[in-house]
Amino acid sequence: MHLTDEQQAILSGSQGETMAKVMKTLVMYGDAFEAEEMVAVTSEYNHLVTSFGLGVMAPVYDLMQQLIDAGVMSQQKFSVDPRPLDKNVPKNLLQNLIFNKFMYNKQDFYEGQLKKLGLLHEDAFTCACYMDEVGNKPKKGDILSWAESSAVVYANSVLGARCNRNSGIVDLMGSIVGFVPKFGLLTDEGRKASWIVKIETSKKPEAQLLGSAIGMKVMEDVPYVVGLDKWLGSELTDEACTYLKDFGAATASNGAVGLYHIENLTPEAVESGKELIKSDAKVYVIDDKELKRVKDNYPVIWKDRDAKPKLCFMGCPHMSLQQLKDWTDRVEAGLKAAGNKKVQIPTVFTAPPAVLEEFNKTDYAKRLKETGVITSYICPLMYMNNPLCGKMPVITSSNKLRTYTSARYYTDDEILLQITKGGKN
Ligand code: F3S
Repeated sequence: MHLTDEQQAILSGSQGETMAKVMKTLVMYGDAFEAEEMVAVTSEYNHLVTSFGLGVMAPVYDLMQQLIDAGVMSQQKFSVDPRPLDKNVPKNLLQNLIFNKFMYNKQDFYEGQLKKLGLLHEDAFTCACYMDEVGNKPKKGDILSWAESSAVVYANSVLGARCNRNSGIVDLMGSIVGFVPKFGLLTDEGRKASWIVKIETSKKPEAQLLGSAIGMKVMEDVPYVVGLDKWLGSELTDEACTYLKDFGAATASNGAVGLYHIENLTPEAVESGKELIKSDAKVYVIDDKELKRVKDNYPVIWKDRDAKPKLCFMGCPHMSLQQLKDWTDRVEAGLKAAGNKKVQIPTVFTAPPAVLEEFNKTDYAKRLKETGVITSYICPLMYMNNPLCGKMPVITSSNKLRTYTSARYYTDDEILLQITKGGKN
């Protein structure tokens, strides 16, 4: 890899031994992907994926401590993925014990390290850091050193920033040294589409289901989606961005998509149109039948397929302010139609702390509380990733949560029915 004099000097120890090791890690990372050079990270803030103080992550804390002791701080302030714990989310005694005493017993300690390294603010814990209320929204063309897959795909596709699907800790290293290796989604060629996805559905496709279908088909490739603007319009409105947030997270977790283009809508597709498509691109047609096939093929790994759900999680990735408001209306209407006053399954809506703060200023918050729905800032995946919760029958409309845990996927309408009517038709 060609390094500039400045980068070579850092590698040779001009800024100390620890910084040299950080640079060496990034050079090795770039070499593995045949990067020819390093480029400067240009975003105002960074975002880190590792937000949880898991007791078993001792090597991470040692590494963080080495960085802190050597005074090798992040050049950028950063937001972090959601916290794993919230006393408001229902847990039984055993779960409480396991979470606090065994799993996340290093949470406070780790948050202390994050503060020393450059945490943006006390409550900067969310995967949807790009929402206006949170304030970590990169500009078009910015080079990022992020790792959270749902945020990377959003930043690349909707905001037009440039970021690879890095790993945890490498995200911090790029931010510390201020450079990342240039390969993949950082290059013009790497942003070209090798799939044309034609949407031919009879109604607006469910964001999380469509994203899942595309992710599983194209895996890590870049899809160019045609026909979705019919349903989303040609402007990146709040509603379209929310749809693309959920759609993108599903492409990134059910496959490994880091960038998609939506014809007539996302910035690069608007700018360059079909020039973004490689000449040998394959074609994938999605109609109602195909979406049904995808959904019907999701495995159900509950011990008892007919178990009554014990918990419902919505908000993976975290919900926007408008989503919280819309869902308040929907839950109220659903309860009214079902003749119920409260949700029939314990239900948690997750959103960024800053969004919850805004939501709590509106009268929607009181109304939602009256329906029995709980709001929280946690990551449902971190709640579920343990043997105790893994056995619980949990339902969700998040295809990311379905993929990584035993949670069962339902469409938004099906979820609404389950929580307001208790699943009765
Ligand atoms: Fe966000 Fe956790 Fe889902 S980080 S995307 S809420 S798995």
